[in-house]
Amino acid sequence: MELLKQRIREDGVIKGTEVLKVDSFLNHQMDVELFDAMGAEFKRRFSGCEVNKILTIEASGIGIACLAARHFGCPVVFAKKSQSRNISDNVFCAKVESFTHGKVYDVVVSREYLHPEDKVLLIDDFLANGEALRGLAAIVAQSGAQLVGAGIVIEKAFQPGGANLRAQGMRVESLARVAAMSEDEGITFAD
Ligand code: G4P
Repeated sequence: MELLKQRIREDGVIKGTEVLKVDSFLNHQMDVELFDAMGAEFKRRFSGCEVNKILTIEASGIGIACLAARHFGCPVVFAKKSQSRNISDNVFCAKVESFTHGKVYDVVVSREYLHPEDKVLLIDDFLANGEALRGLAAIVAQSGAQLVGAGIVIEKAFQPGGANLRAQGMRVESLARVAAMSEDEGITFAD
């Protein structure tokens, strides 16, 4: 998505070779017009898939998912990150390992909001190692719903998440795929 790539080139801040900060339009301040355009693009890519529910994970996925949901005409469910040791029987639950933050946490979704007849699209801001998406896909599987695929804003294609998930059969659509980046040479997009 050219508009997004241009914005990343202009406003993205590269930290080392692995971290891309996009706080000015995605992760802290949010450019809602851009989110709306991204929502339209997700709808274009997943048109005909009969998506009736969007599943994301707190916190940064929520805003993007909400604007996308306007285009799909469906509700958003967000998985909650839980610190609790006692996970209730009323939730679907998966463990997610965050490489960035070096910890494992549970993500939970109430059984009330996912059902076997649902067709679910996952939405998230970044795809790096793919742990968050793997956890969300596990929750969809527990519910018996159909997983349509995943819509990602920025995929760091030099990290293994995207390739692994596609190899497992997940349809992953990323609006911008970063092939490489460095503080000196900037960003190279994969396509
Ligand atoms: P993974 O889900 O693909 O395995 O990613 P990983 O564990 O490596 O990343 C953990 C968190 O860091 C995720 O946010 C992810 O979106 C974010 N992240 C990963 N790489 C980058 C990056 O280059 N830039 C930015 N800005 N974020 C990155 P999270 O822990 O779920 O936090 P939240 O912001 O959604 O609350």
